[in-house]
Amino acid sequence: MRNLPVIKKQRLEGEFQPNLQRYDETYASFSWRDLAQELTRGHADVVADSSLNIASIAIDQNLSNGRGEHIAVRWLAADGDIRRDFTFAQLAEFSDRFANVLRGLGIGAGDVVCTVLGRIPELYAVCFGALKNRSIFCPLFTAFGPEPLRMRLDLSRAKVLVTSRNLYERKIAPMRPSLSHLAHVILVDVYQEQMLPEGTQSYGLLMARADPNFTIPPTRPEDPALLHFTSGTTGTPKGALHVHQAVMVHYATAKYVLDLHPGDVYWCTADPGWVTGTSYGIIAPLTVGVTLVVDEAEFDAARWYKILQDQKVNVWYTAPTAVRMLMKSGDALPQSYDLSHLRHAVSVGEPLNPEAVLWSQRVLGRPIHDTWWQTETGGIMVANFPAMDIKPGSMGRPVPGVEAAIVSVVNGVLQPLAEPDVEGELALRVGWPSMFRSYLNQEERYKKCFIDGYYLTGDLARRDADGYFWFVGRADDVIKSAGHLIGPFEVESVLLEHPAVAEAAVIGKPDPLLMEVVKAFVALKSGFSPDEATRKEIMALARRRLGPAVAPREIEFVADLPKTKSGKIMRRLLKARELGLPEGDTSTLERPVVATGGSR
Ligand code: WT7
Repeated sequence: MRNLPVIKKQRLEGEFQPNLQRYDETYASFSWRDLAQELTRGHADVVADSSLNIASIAIDQNLSNGRGEHIAVRWLAADGDIRRDFTFAQLAEFSDRFANVLRGLGIGAGDVVCTVLGRIPELYAVCFGALKNRSIFCPLFTAFGPEPLRMRLDLSRAKVLVTSRNLYERKIAPMRPSLSHLAHVILVDVYQEQMLPEGTQSYGLLMARADPNFTIPPTRPEDPALLHFTSGTTGTPKGALHVHQAVMVHYATAKYVLDLHPGDVYWCTADPGWVTGTSYGIIAPLTVGVTLVVDEAEFDAARWYKILQDQKVNVWYTAPTAVRMLMKSGDALPQSYDLSHLRHAVSVGEPLNPEAVLWSQRVLGRPIHDTWWQTETGGIMVANFPAMDIKPGSMGRPVPGVEAAIVSVVNGVLQPLAEPDVEGELALRVGWPSMFRSYLNQEERYKKCFIDGYYLTGDLARRDADGYFWFVGRADDVIKSAGHLIGPFEVESVLLEHPAVAEAAVIGKPDPLLMEVVKAFVALKSGFSPDEATRKEIMALARRRLGPAVAPREIEFVADLPKTKSGKIMRRLLKARELGLPEGDTSTLERPVVATGGSR
C-alpha cells in the first residue's frame, strides 16, 4: 500500500451537516426494519405487507408529502439550450398513464418491459409505469449492437420494447422475426399512425389515449421489479433480478452515501442502460425528493463543468473514466467555472486512482468519494462517507446494514480472513434488501455465487486495520472498459462467426483512460492469411454485430491459442503475456503459442 496523505473528513460550514455523522455508531445501531419504517413514514410494515412499490416510494409518496410541484427531473437536451422540467406530479401522471398503456396491452405482473433509450424524459414514465404495473423494468444499452440486444431480449423473454425509430430500424427490425416473446414495440419519437414502421406503436398516441389515473396493485417486498444484465467469464449474459424492496437500499444510500438533502440538485452521469443509471440515475434521488439533472449529451469536459455551474449541482455521481477524461482536459478549464455549489462528489464502477482523488481535491475543491458495488448488489455496498477521512485509493467502508468480509474458499468451505491487510475474495453477508434474487432462468449459476450465508462478489480485495476496503482485482476474466462490464465469451462468439476465424480469445488490455480495452487474439483457419484486409473485415463484423462499446479495439493474429489439456482457452496466460508478467502455472498448458502477425 502506498503511503498517501489521508484527506480529512469534510468540515461543513454553518448549519449544514452530513446525514451520517458518526459512522461507527450508525453502523452499530442500524436495522433495515427501522429504515423501512422511516422510508414509509411509519405507514406500513413493509417487511410484512403488500404496499412497497418502488414507484410509489420514489414518485407518488412525494405527492403525499407535499412535494408534488417540486422539480423531480430537469432534462437537458443534447442539442441547443433546450431544458425541460418535470415535477413529481407530472411524473406521477405520466407513469400512471404508462402503467395503463401496459395494462391495456395485456401486460401484467412479472412481464418484462425492456428499453433501448438514451437519457430522455420518456425513460422515467416507462420505468415507473412498468413498476406501478408490477412489470419488470429492464433497461438495455443504446450502444449495444444487434447481437447483444438480441441475446438480452431473448434471455429476458421481454414482451415489450420501448425504443426510438432509428434504433428500432437499425438494430431490432431485421431480427424481429426471431424475437418470439416480443409482442409490442413502442416508439417514443413517432407521433402519427401512418409514420409507424410495421409492427410498432406510437408512445405518444398510446399515452394520449391512456387514463391518467392508475391505482398500484398490492406489491409485496419480494415482487420482482428490475432486471439488469451483467457478464461472466463464460456463457451467456446473466440477468440479475431485483425485487421492490431494493428501494430500501436506494433510499439508505441516497441519504448516507450520496448525502442528499431536501432542496439538493443532484446529477448522475451514468447511462440508464446499466445498473447505476437506474439505481442512482432514476430511483434513489427521487426517494429523497431531490431534483435530478439528466443530460442527454455524451461526455464533453466543458459541457460538464458548465452543467455543474449552471444547474448549481450540489451532489454529483460519476465514474472514474469520466474523471480521468476531465483530468486530461486540463486544470485550467474548471478554473473558469463557478463550482462552488458542488458539495459532494462520488464515483463508482472501477478503481478510482488516488491521483484522481487528489486532483479533484486540488482542482474542484472537493475530493471524489469512491463507492463500490455491482449489478448483483443492486445498490452501493462499500463507500467513502462525507463524515469520514478518505484514504485515497480505498473504496471505503461498508454501508450501514451491509456486512462485508474478506474470505477464502477452501474445498468448498468459506474461511473468513479476519486479519487486516490479507488479500482474499470480497464477500457480503446475505440479507441486504437489494441483493439480486436470481440470474433469470439460470439457477445453477446463481447458486454458485453463495456459500455459507455469504455472496461471493468475484472481486479480490483486502481490508486494512481501520476497516477500509482496498480493491485488488477481479477473480475472473471479465473486462472493464469505461466502467462497463464486458463478457469475453460474448465477443469471442461473434468473432467466430467470421469464416476466416478458427479460434478467438479476448482479454482486457490496460488503458490509461478507459481502464481496459477489449483486445482479441485470433487464430485463422488454414487458407486465410493474417493480413490487414482480413483484420479489417473481422473488425468490421465485430463492430456491426456487437456495437462500438463492446467490439475489440485491437486484433492480434496468432497461430494458435494457449489451451489447457481439457481444451479451455487460457485467457489469463494471454493477458500475462500482454502485460509482460510471469505466466504463472502453465503445467496444464497443451502447447505453446506463436504470434504470426503484428497487433494494432
Ligand atoms: C464490478 C461491478 C455498480 C456500479 C457499476 C458497475 C468493479 C465497481 C468499483 C470500485 C474498483 C469497482 C468491480 C465490480 N467495480 N466499483 N469502486 N473500485 N472496482 O457494476 O458492471 O456489475 O461491475 O465493477 O470489479 O465487481 P458492474
